[in-house]
Amino acid sequence: MEQASAALVEAPAEKIGLMGEMMAEAGKRFGHVKTATADAELLQSLSERLLKLIGNKRPDEAPTYITVPASAYLDPAHFAREKAAIFDRMPILACLSSDIAHAGDYRRVQELDTPIIVTRTRKGEVKAFVNGCRHRGAALVYDDAGNAKGGFLCPYHGWAYTDEGDLKGIACPEAFEGLDKKEHGLVQVPCEERHGLVFVSPRADAPLDLDTFLGPDLDRELALWQFDKVTGARSEPVALKGNWKLVYDTFLESYHFAQAHKNNLATFYVPNVNTVDRFGKHQRIAVANRTLPDHVAAHAPEERQLQDHLLIAYVLFPGIVLINSPQILEVFRIFPQSVDTTIVQHSCYSKLPAEMNGNDGFFEMVWQSAHNIVMNEDFPFGVTTAHRALASGSIKELIFGRNELAVQNNYAVIRETVDAAG
Ligand code: FES
Ligand SMILES: [Fe+2]
Repeated sequence: MEQASAALVEAPAEKIGLMGEMMAEAGKRFGHVKTATADAELLQSLSERLLKLIGNKRPDEAPTYITVPASAYLDPAHFAREKAAIFDRMPILACLSSDIAHAGDYRRVQELDTPIIVTRTRKGEVKAFVNGCRHRGAALVYDDAGNAKGGFLCPYHGWAYTDEGDLKGIACPEAFEGLDKKEHGLVQVPCEERHGLVFVSPRADAPLDLDTFLGPDLDRELALWQFDKVTGARSEPVALKGNWKLVYDTFLESYHFAQAHKNNLATFYVPNVNTVDRFGKHQRIAVANRTLPDHVAAHAPEERQLQDHLLIAYVLFPGIVLINSPQILEVFRIFPQSVDTTIVQHSCYSKLPAEMNGNDGFFEMVWQSAHNIVMNEDFPFGVTTAHRALASGSIKELIFGRNELAVQNNYAVIRETVDAAG
C-alpha cells in the first residue's frame, strides 16, 4: 500500500479531473432538477450561518486546538477496546435500499468479524443472515452482490434455504433423522431499512435500535433527502495501511480543501468554512458552493434554490459518511480490520432522474473523479503517510486545530463510547 500511495501522491493534477467544473456543468445541463425535497428552513438556516462564516473566513470552531497521542493510532490494546465498544456493537450501514431494490437481491458484508448477507425477500422486506450454513458452516454466498430469488443453496453438501432463511431441504435427509428443520434456519442478524439506508448489527447477538441510534432529529432530517430514490451505484473497496480514525478524519473538515484539493474541490467550494452540528454521536457538516453569496444576493428568498449551492454531509458514528450534493450521494463506509489496516467501501449514487444517468457518461465521470480525489488527495496524506510517520515513533502526537471541530467532536465521541463500555 505504501508504494502505491507514494505513486498516487505524484499523480498529475489533470488526471484527477476537474470535479468542480463537472459539477458546475451538471448544474447548467440539468438545471434545477428537483430530486431531493430538502427542508426550506434547514437550507435557509445553514445558508445564513455559512454566509456569516464566509464573511469571517472561519468555520464553526472548537475553543482550542487539541492533541491526540500516537498510541491512539498504534496500540493494539487501544484498538481492541475501540473495536469491542464501537464496531462490535453499533449499527453498520450494509448498503443502500437501491442496492437491493428487487426481490432476491443480496449484498455480502465481508468486512466484519461476522460474515453477513443482506437480502430483500419476495415479500419486499429486508433481512440479514449470517453467511454460514447450519450444517458445517460453509458460506452460502461468494459474490459481493447477486440475486437469490429461489433462496440460498449451500454449495458444500446442498442444504437449501428459502429467501426468508428457513431450512427447506437437506440432502440425504435420512442421515439427519430427528433434526428439526424449523430450528435450523439461517442465523438472523438484526437488520432494518430506513430512509433508503440498510442498517445491520455487526453481530447476530447485538441488538439494533435505530430510534435510539439516530435520535428523533436526525431521523426526521435524513427522511428529507429521499436517499431511497438514488440510482446507479458505482463502488470500489479501498484497503488502506492506516488506523481507522485517520480515515475518518479525512472527511471531517474543509481545512484541507485549499491545499489538497486546490485543482478541483477548492475551485467549487469555499475552503475552511463549514458548519458543524451534532446529533448525539452523529454530525452534520455543511459547506458552501462559491456561488452561494451571489445567488443569495441576486434572488428573493422565495426564488432561491439553496440546495444547489450547498454540500451537506452526514457523518454517522461509527464510520458512515454520506456526502450529499445536489446531483450525487457519495457514501463512505469505514471498516477497521486491525490497528493499522482499514477497508473503506466508497460508493457513488446518482440523484438525477434515471433517463439522465447515462447522459454523456456524466455519472461515470463524476464517480471516477470523486474516487480519484480520495485516492490521490485524501488517503495518501491523511492516512497512509500519516500512519507511517506515527508508526516510526518520531511523531508523538497529532494536532487538531480549532477549525477542525468535527474531527475534535469525533475524538470526544470515540472516547465517551469506549469509556461508557467500561
Ligand atoms: S456445509 Fe452446507 S450443506 Fe454442508
Ligand atoms: Fe478531501
